[in-house]
Amino acid sequence: MTSSPEAVGDLQALRSCWHAVAFADAVSDQPQRAVLLGQALVLWRDSAGQPHALNDVCIHRGTALSLGRVIGDELMCPYHGWRYGPDGRCVAIPQLADPTQVPGKARVATYRCMTRYGLVWVALEEPRWPVPDVPELETASGWQHVPCGPYRWRCDASRQIENFTDFGHFPWVHPGLLGDPGRPVVPKHTVQVDGHVLGYEIVRPEAPNSEEFPVFANEQTTAPERHNRYQLHLPYTIVLRIGWGGKRGMVYFFASQPIDDEDCAGYLVIARNYDHEQPISVLQDFENTIFEQDRRMVESQRPEKVPFDLADEMHMKFDAVAVAYRRAMRQQGLGGLAATREPAV
Ligand code: FES
Ligand SMILES: [Fe+2]
Repeated sequence: MTSSPEAVGDLQALRSCWHAVAFADAVSDQPQRAVLLGQALVLWRDSAGQPHALNDVCIHRGTALSLGRVIGDELMCPYHGWRYGPDGRCVAIPQLADPTQVPGKARVATYRCMTRYGLVWVALEEPRWPVPDVPELETASGWQHVPCGPYRWRCDASRQIENFTDFGHFPWVHPGLLGDPGRPVVPKHTVQVDGHVLGYEIVRPEAPNSEEFPVFANEQTTAPERHNRYQLHLPYTIVLRIGWGGKRGMVYFFASQPIDDEDCAGYLVIARNYDHEQPISVLQDFENTIFEQDRRMVESQRPEKVPFDLADEMHMKFDAVAVAYRRAMRQQGLGGLAATREPAV
């Protein structure tokens, strides 16, 4: 992990954001370890099904609480059986004649934790912004929800997010699946910045549905195009609405978990209002293929974290989203120190 003052500044700002840390169905009364921004967490559910996130370090001797078990509404350390409530307070020390005579100091840090869209979210400090509202992802929306991933990559979450919204690579990295090598020109698009949300639309060439993965509602067989409406919520969440001119649509909801500066995990939830009888594994297999193609590119990028100074790397007009992302991240204190140089784009 980086230890420059700049990275520490980012880290503080990133701690004040909601981050996806697990699919909700992966968090149970079996405690589970997760790492967020270098902070080890134990995730567990109480008897009412409420998820909790605590520091994964027992105050007694530093054992990982994620190795323990849940007993009712308490988390028990595996080493000496100390028990903690959801508020992080130790409530029982079995070695004492009266196990309830617990010193006030015996507690572990707890963090804000909630479930939304089939994901567990954690904020290490008071979050600056809410998780975005996406009506299509609500349970009663009538849209089918297909979870994909998590895609654990060896890179910073910023690289995974930029890749998800990079238009230039489709014909090269996903030929025949998402892009058409015969039509590599990126159509014009502009980015609107509204606080911490970037909005942009693009109608772009795509490949016809493949026989192996008939997942898109696109009947066009020659020069097909897709309509995309994006919202990129800083720092690491994207809402993408896709259409093909008819009633059929998809919503791609993507959130990248910043594990540390060199590791991330991407959670994708796709909502679709058609083809509900198709096994969801078809779409999941498709996304696994796409993400694997991307992973090889992105894990090779250096530096592992997006350089937020616009003087770094080389930006073309068709990279407008990456430029806006880097600028906005920096302006919100999420992407390093303010740059003094800005190239014309
Ligand atoms: S280390 Fe947790 S109870 Fe002793
Ligand atoms: Fe890609």
